[in-house]
Amino acid sequence: IKPAYDEVSEWVAMYVKTRIREFNPGPDRLFTLGLPTGSTPTGTYAKLVEMHKAGEISFKYVVTFNMDEYVGLPREHPESYHSFMWSKLFSHIDIDPAHVHILNGNAPDLQKECDEYERKIASYGGIELFLGGIGPDGHIAFNEPGSSLVSRTRIKTLAYDTILANARFFGHDVTKVPKMSLTVGVGTVMDAREVLIIITGAHKAYALYQAIEQGVSHMWTVSAFQMHPRAIFVCDEDATLEL
Ligand code: GLP
Repeated sequence: IKPAYDEVSEWVAMYVKTRIREFNPGPDRLFTLGLPTGSTPTGTYAKLVEMHKAGEISFKYVVTFNMDEYVGLPREHPESYHSFMWSKLFSHIDIDPAHVHILNGNAPDLQKECDEYERKIASYGGIELFLGGIGPDGHIAFNEPGSSLVSRTRIKTLAYDTILANARFFGHDVTKVPKMSLTVGVGTVMDAREVLIIITGAHKAYALYQAIEQGVSHMWTVSAFQMHPRAIFVCDEDATLEL
């Protein structure tokens, strides 16, 4: 628990830096990092960019897999998760573009795209560290309430609450928010060797309570990480109001 958002972002960025350094990646030993989108990780990404510019961290031997992407939104759309990731992080660091993986929500065969994503993750030996955020309804990636806790990468219809929550990125117009997504499954994230979930703000307080103080439930998909051997929840004071 950190006092506020900035300290949370600083802590997570430091943690990522430390884990990559300890792993000591090289051309034959790539560090595989899972990444989220949303407003929560933007502070962490800004800190990582700062650390990179100060020469404290290199992403040369880091491979990334993003959690999710909207279906049908053009890749160039400012709110696509492709645009988000390039503008917030990838354009400012020394990552090899061939090492960046983001689901293609415009693929001609969406299920094939998802199956191939799982195969690609496996081809790198799985994910070392998966960072995540959550929605106020406790969803991880786009694993909405009711998703199977052993789910894999697949097509998912967004819950109305999520469409409402994300309307702020689409001029507060719910009709403009895509209704479907491609998302890694809860099982895909569970397979990572380590999971770090960032939760900030009073509007996520009830979700944090469900995540760590209530039982494991597919109605709060983030609660699955109670069963993960190495899961860290990093939150600010506001998010702890219900604990
Ligand atoms: C979307 C993303 C999630 C993210 C959530 C929370 O639903 N698919 O991965 O955790 O938004 O977003 P925010 O951090 O803006 O609250």
